[in-house]
Amino acid sequence: MASLTIRKLDDALKAELRQRAARNGRSMEDEVRVMLREATHRRPEIAAGLSQGIPQSFQSTPAEDSGQSDAAWITLIVGGGIAAYKAMDLIRRLMERGATVRVVLTRAAQQFVTPLTASALSHQRCYTDLFDPNSEFDAGHIRLARDCDLVVVAPATADLMAKMANGHADDLASAILLATNRQILLAPAMNPLMWDNAATRRNVAQLQRDGVALIGPNAGEMAERNEAGTGRMAEPIEIATAAEAFLRPPQPRPLAGKRVLITAGPTHEPIDPVRYIANRSSGKQGYAIAAAAAAAGADVILISGPVELRAPAGVALTRVESAREMLAAVEVALPVDIAIFAAAVADWRVVGAGEQKLKKGAGGPPPLQLTENPDILATVSKLKANRPALVIGFAAETEHLLDNATAKLARKGCDWIVANDVSPATGVMGGDRNTVHLLMKTDGAATIEAWPAMTKDDVATALVARIAQAAGSQIA
Ligand code: C5P
Repeated sequence: MASLTIRKLDDALKAELRQRAARNGRSMEDEVRVMLREATHRRPEIAAGLSQGIPQSFQSTPAEDSGQSDAAWITLIVGGGIAAYKAMDLIRRLMERGATVRVVLTRAAQQFVTPLTASALSHQRCYTDLFDPNSEFDAGHIRLARDCDLVVVAPATADLMAKMANGHADDLASAILLATNRQILLAPAMNPLMWDNAATRRNVAQLQRDGVALIGPNAGEMAERNEAGTGRMAEPIEIATAAEAFLRPPQPRPLAGKRVLITAGPTHEPIDPVRYIANRSSGKQGYAIAAAAAAAGADVILISGPVELRAPAGVALTRVESAREMLAAVEVALPVDIAIFAAAVADWRVVGAGEQKLKKGAGGPPPLQLTENPDILATVSKLKANRPALVIGFAAETEHLLDNATAKLARKGCDWIVANDVSPATGVMGGDRNTVHLLMKTDGAATIEAWPAMTKDDVATALVARIAQAAGSQIA
């Protein structure tokens, strides 16, 4: 085993170690032991650096001593804007997610909030000065820049962003931003005219090219009386969620490189320009599958009937109204590797839907003649060319669930069917939970898996995991 002789360290390192040991009331040997222990626990890459003989600054902090050493560390830089008060709430939101937060206040930020507030909330010392002998004896700005997992700037003022874009380092905040090799997340906040100004636009574009991430700004009321527009800082909860996404370990992406098509929601079949036939599908299950497939790395095309849902992140959404429009959009999206037909497509449409609104008249209600819609699932399943390697349909049934689903698997020509009981007592239609059976056609016979009751999000995740399994074997 290698041994370390402090006497043989170079003079500068020895002096720094002596100073640090004295400050912490330890012997130099004990100080080295503490540094190595903390480095190994908190930051494997620092431990690796130490083992390669690279000296690292690493100061013990109250949080480490109290055993929170596995937490993510965030350096939070608070700029000088009225939104600085919200950054105090952000400290709490980040801590709720398990992060240890070290706050840096710019000079202007201290016009709005005090170091005492920041340190009381963060349970850490608050940093304000580049030339602070208590912190700079061991290059504190470098420590704040590197000895963390993420740097968050909230509020990021126009001035702070201009300094960053141009590499200034004349105060503690800008020096940290220049010295860091960690991801930076900015939450801009400024007057809408400042946000729209050509100089700010240039700086934002430059920062994005440099790999800096932005959250917000949001649109809304400004602190200035009677002013509104884009420039409000994102809410603390949004910033904390964005920060968390950077801190989470990268998720596996088993569907990377796969093109996945998903239909979702109901269709509306016009009776006349203002009336239509519809059903109670909320689209929640299909949207959840789209989100889960995108999270698994797939290239997702979501074709949706009219629903009240937002497009999941990273998904290409096409909105349609009727079954025929849905089929046309599906045909445009082909070829794909995997197609999942979760939409509750109307079986029938009205023949000769009126160009004008139908009028009440003496002759009584108009007779509505129905005709069959194209079956999108069956059409795609039976394609000779461009058939996706895996085609999955849904069977929403109110009785004889498994018999009907098994028959549907054969009739439609798809590979799998997700069968769910949608009788009103189950609350599946429009609800957040689902109990499904997965029917899979293997060698002509159907195997059936009964899944326990789950949220629609969990059904989506489980289905995507099964698809990823299949993608790894049969359909790769
Ligand atoms: O025939 P049924 O509507 O019960 O079949 C349900 C499955 O077929 C679902 O996957 C649904 O998205 C799909 N379907 C379709 N086009 C239709 C009717 C149903 O793609 N016109």
